[in-house]
Amino acid sequence: MRAITLFLVFALCGISQSYVAPQEKINLRRIGVQGAPIQKGQPRPGVENGPAVIRGSGIVEFLRDVGHDILDYGNVYLGELFQAASVGALVDVNDPEAVAEATHYISNHTKLILQANRIPLTFGGDHAMAIGTLNAMSERYPDLAVIYIDAHADINTVETTPSGNLHGMPLSFVINELNAINANLTPFSWVVPRIPAANVAHIALRDVDIGETETLNRLGMAHYTMRDVDRLGIRGVVEMVLNRIGGWTRPIYVSMDIDSLDDLEIGHTTGTPG
Ligand SMILES: *[C@@H]1O[C@H](CO)[C@@H](O)[C@H](O)[C@H]1NC(C)=O
Repeated sequence: MRAITLFLVFALCGISQSYVAPQEKINLRRIGVQGAPIQKGQPRPGVENGPAVIRGSGIVEFLRDVGHDILDYGNVYLGELFQAASVGALVDVNDPEAVAEATHYISNHTKLILQANRIPLTFGGDHAMAIGTLNAMSERYPDLAVIYIDAHADINTVETTPSGNLHGMPLSFVINELNAINANLTPFSWVVPRIPAANVAHIALRDVDIGETETLNRLGMAHYTMRDVDRLGIRGVVEMVLNRIGGWTRPIYVSMDIDSLDDLEIGHTTGTPG
């Protein structure tokens, strides 16, 4: 199951929980779960089942058993365009109207969860959904930092995208320095790019397009490959990331794409035990 996306947003002390042994006390959270059955950010059918597959793993029950206060809001309605057949490209990007509307719904629903004083936990299978969640999170937390765990950088703009698929572009809409490059994509004009590139870090990169590499370097963004994780260990990488993005003092948004685990799943691992 490729490209299932799981979003998990923690405040700072939530992150430090990953270093706490299971028998130690954990900080219990109010969490709002939502499913984003989005699919048109890319061409393959099936990823819209992401929320059902992730819920089926028992993760919601697990978090509840641990003691968190969980409310599952179900799947977000994504609009009528999203039900319709795919339409032609606008400035060489596929299905922008449908994806823009769907991610707007996701953004609005994420705001609703935040207003209810819950940490949004979003399940999906198409990373274009991050346009919506990041728009909402950065409105609520203007100093937000982002840790993006993915084999791909998802930072293509209309100028660099090789495929025109929006699932490879979400960060280019929400990062302040990049949004204007996509200005011709007017369906996305509702997105407010509040996140400076300096607040965003990538972990687990394995397959980055040439234009994306140029963008990461030009903006001086923190980015670590699977090789870096092999070499330095995940704890070392996370500490460097937190230093780079001010993550010790800012609220943190974590976005994880399961393709960051592909090597483990298909068996020829590179020695990166979980
Ligand atoms: C999202 O919320 C804004 C502001 O309330 C509203 O104008 C817009 O129509 C909503 N869009 C969707 C797709 O829900």
